[in-house]
Amino acid sequence: MSGKQAIAVFDSGVGGLTVFAELSKILPNETIVYLGDTLRCPYGDRSVETIKKFSVEITNFLLTRDVKMIIAACNTVSSVALDCVKETAGEIPVIGVVEAGCRAAVQSSQAKRIGVIGTRATIGAGAYGKGIRAINPEIVVYEKACPLLVHLVEEGEVDSRITDVALQKYLYDLLDFGIDSLVLGCTHYPLLYNAVLRCVGDGVSVINGAKFVAEEAKKILAKNELLTDKKIGEDIIFATDITPQFERLAAAFLMGAKKNVVKVKL
Ligand code: DGL
Repeated sequence: MSGKQAIAVFDSGVGGLTVFAELSKILPNETIVYLGDTLRCPYGDRSVETIKKFSVEITNFLLTRDVKMIIAACNTVSSVALDCVKETAGEIPVIGVVEAGCRAAVQSSQAKRIGVIGTRATIGAGAYGKGIRAINPEIVVYEKACPLLVHLVEEGEVDSRITDVALQKYLYDLLDFGIDSLVLGCTHYPLLYNAVLRCVGDGVSVINGAKFVAEEAKKILAKNELLTDKKIGEDIIFATDITPQFERLAAAFLMGAKKNVVKVKL
């Protein structure tokens, strides 16, 4: 492996571009290859077997792109299929957004009461609870599936009354447990950051996993002397389907930055 190779990031759809954006911010010299499985998104309500199958197909595709690291930006994949991705990737380091989010949550919580929100598959797997308790068994984790939120983000309802009402429905229960930290355990939720802050108030730290997985990638690449000091390649976004909605969402996730988008069949 060499520093000149690209970093691969993948997600069930467009949401993992939150990780792409964080990586570009802290590692501007790196070339990033992104794959969003927009044709089959969302994964959050699918069976574990199907999510594993899709994850292996994506990993095999990314391995054809000469990459030095694979980041599973999708919380659903990281929760139920990270082992399959690692096995398929062989010697290429693989990191998942859940592991990084767990570490950040443990560092943040003084009260030792952490809330986690995500898709049904992520919460059903209990991956955040297991990951957090593995670091500190004294911490109590309250996990809540919020299936409406991905759809609200995809419809552009990021700062609207309907989203505030949905967040109240989901988050008030968690607040009743006395949490002092809340993990946004889904790629789409960073776009709801302001709405979540409005709902939870000042007493709760809101943790964006995308930021922490990008920092973790930087640390691992630095340790293995795989960082590059000069950008040589061009970033590329692969998607299994391209629709006007995808283009609108990609622009929102990348805060307007223009990227090459190529349709691909897995
Ligand atoms: N990318 C998924 C996640 O982070 C959200 C969208 C989906 O359900 O596929 O869990």
